[in-house]
Amino acid sequence: MLFSQKLSDGIYMLRANDRRTQLFENHIPLPSGVAYNCYIINDEKTALFDTIHSSFGDELLDTIKQVIGDKSLDYLVIHHLEPDHSGEIKSVIAQYPSVEIYGNKKTFEILKSYLGEVANLVEIKDGDTLELGEHSLQFVLTPWIHWPETMMTFETKTSTLFSADAFGSFGAVDGALMDEQLTSIKDIEDEMLRYYSNIVGKYSMMVSKALTKLSAMDIKRICPVHGVVWSKYITELLSLYQKWSAQSVDGGVVIAFASMYGFNESMADYIAISLANRGVKGVKVFDVSKSDPSYILTEVWRSRVVLLGSCAYNGGVFTSMETLCNILSHCAVKGKSWGIFGTGSWNGGGVKGLVAIAEGNKWECVSEPVEIIGKPNIEKLKVADALIEAVISAL
Ligand code: FEO
Repeated sequence: MLFSQKLSDGIYMLRANDRRTQLFENHIPLPSGVAYNCYIINDEKTALFDTIHSSFGDELLDTIKQVIGDKSLDYLVIHHLEPDHSGEIKSVIAQYPSVEIYGNKKTFEILKSYLGEVANLVEIKDGDTLELGEHSLQFVLTPWIHWPETMMTFETKTSTLFSADAFGSFGAVDGALMDEQLTSIKDIEDEMLRYYSNIVGKYSMMVSKALTKLSAMDIKRICPVHGVVWSKYITELLSLYQKWSAQSVDGGVVIAFASMYGFNESMADYIAISLANRGVKGVKVFDVSKSDPSYILTEVWRSRVVLLGSCAYNGGVFTSMETLCNILSHCAVKGKSWGIFGTGSWNGGGVKGLVAIAEGNKWECVSEPVEIIGKPNIEKLKVADALIEAVISAL
């Protein structure tokens, strides 16, 4: 259901929790759901900021009417056209045919590709303003967070930033309207980072540019299109985004392995145990056949070293490991130290394939790759000792 809640005089959030969709963008698991938000300012003029996923479309118009009553909707500001936020633009236009639609040049190119010719378009440039009465809007172009048309709006009376995908999170919101209703930011940090690394992390350079632009503003409230509204933890939130967009890490090791009969799992465990025994903290081991890549990517984003291990599969890399590598490449993971290990029963091939993938992505390896032929035992596993030493040096 789509609920409207008041944020402050004249500013309302419309939020729907979606706990039914299994996969975000049809590939990222949503075990705790996702929330879609859009916003309304009801002033002398009325403005809607984005729409909603079409699965809640039949409720949007009624919910807008709950907020603005019989007034007309004067403006629709489109921050982002991904269909989880743009799904109901057509129905809003049908209900309010005189609504003026605010967006940038790229917004309207994409909008035309979705809906054909649309009337009443107002193309804004970075820094343009719009008066609603008590509230004043300033538009901020922030391309590539997460699509090229992405932009934000800063409302100057309340210092509220409508931030589109930025500062959003996976996870339905368990009742809280604002971040101050959380126990701490830690309650949702994992799902925030999973969202960041999988959705906007690829464009981290553009996130950094946007953060620089936003640093000139005295932001007191942030209204993203997913997750809670931010007020209490804005300093911490901006600091996390600085860190994540710089792909800056404190330490930590991710060991991701592919193993059909446990041989390569033994190698992963040997490396993890050896590192832990040497005092390395934050070692995380993932079986790529069991853990979804979105979770592995999240931990990779946090970690200094990434070790990838594959059994041989038809003389190459195991398929689940190929998928993980493809996602790590796709999401432009940078600033890591890498290592490669694997097992095979005759000629191997998993390690050789991983080396080719690493070279193709310019992933700098901390040592030569290591490989065991046949069933591992403690003597054979010592082949990984050089890799373990190199990881400790890299931390
Ligand atoms: Fe939540 Fe990029 O859309």
